Amino acid sequence: MRHAVIAATGLYTPPNALSNEELVETFNTYVARFNADHAEAIAAGEVTALAPSSPEFILKASGIKSRFVMDKSGLIDPEVLRPAIPERSNEELSVLAEMAVTAARQAIARWGKPVSEIGAVLCAASNMQRPYPAMAIEVQQALGIEGFAFDMNVACSSATFGIKTAADFIRSDPAKAILMVNPEVCSGHLNFRDRDSHFIFGDVATAVIVEGAERAGPGGWDILGTRLKTEFSNNIRNNFGFLNRAAPEGANARDKLFVQEGRKVFREVTPMVSAMIAEHASDLGIDPHGLKRLWLHQANINMNDMIAKKVLGRDPTPEENVIILDDYANTSSAGSIIAFHLHSDDLAAGDLGLICSFGAGYSAGTVFVKKR
Ligand code: COA
Repeated sequence: MRHAVIAATGLYTPPNALSNEELVETFNTYVARFNADHAEAIAAGEVTALAPSSPEFILKASGIKSRFVMDKSGLIDPEVLRPAIPERSNEELSVLAEMAVTAARQAIARWGKPVSEIGAVLCAASNMQRPYPAMAIEVQQALGIEGFAFDMNVACSSATFGIKTAADFIRSDPAKAILMVNPEVCSGHLNFRDRDSHFIFGDVATAVIVEGAERAGPGGWDILGTRLKTEFSNNIRNNFGFLNRAAPEGANARDKLFVQEGRKVFREVTPMVSAMIAEHASDLGIDPHGLKRLWLHQANINMNDMIAKKVLGRDPTPEENVIILDDYANTSSAGSIIAFHLHSDDLAAGDLGLICSFGAGYSAGTVFVKKR
């Protein structure tokens, strides 16, 4: 059977780093002002006082030290606490498309082939900037690609679902390569007034070029197998949508941003993903203990350590279990691709690895790869 290859990847990192300390200082200023403004109501038991956040908790609970964001000014202003990104005219490239195009250009340069050899663009991300026209079609036009393009959203698992979709297209028609992009402005859907989650996300864009093995050069990674899984859960949810666009601001609008039951997610998703990886490896005849590297979704370091330990059957070394969420935080669909992009060049031909995503839905995807 024809098989597909990950031929190249690209990464766009936004210019502004935002540390836990900066984030917490702003949050705690907001908390102090809120509590002062509501002092009487708090004293009367009518309003619950807000509790401060701490960088120590964030690092210990998640492994996150910092994140990159498209706009920092609004996130360090306790009166704003949301990214201040001006709306663009229809004649300008939209923000997500611009990020995706930058990551894609890097992937195309590393690939070393002309864009005329790309026949489709998939934009696989957890938050599209608009319903239509598809972000992917805008990226397609900006890069001068002929063919077709469409968006797909499977939350944090979008990239592995995108790789599988691209690999399946390649199997049926290997004439052209497929570009898959993952632009994520997660800061736009994060509630920076919510102590439980204000630290979780960062912004980034990644790009992956998938092409048929018979056309691919000597480099890249053979895709040995892809598998997808979904199981409905309300534990990670965002109710924002066109039916509630007039929702009032403030407390009532909380569920129009990211909300989660973090503990439940941890408890339920960790075993689901570990079992899925083991089953998929077994079906492919791969001994998971022999995997040279894991590029897991980057949401929580403790979760990744547990999954990696289960998969490898031993405590993973930092080289085996790549962690980039200390610098990038959770970047939704892009996390495992950033890890792969930054930490895969040093492996040797024949080495096996796993790209794996998991998140809202619940959803999970596994992509076993072998260095060519
Ligand atoms: N600063 C200080 N303390 C905080 C805090 C903050 N920002 N946020 C919560 N706390 C406190 C809580 O109030 C709680 O206090 P208590 O024990 O006195 O009640 C304590 O810290 C533990 O809170 P909890 O929410 O249970 O923390 P946790 O250890 O579960 O970590 C997450 C929270 C979100 C980091 C963790 O659950 C997680 O990452 N889960 C997986 C999420 C995931 O993968 N989601 C996918 C998203 S795509």
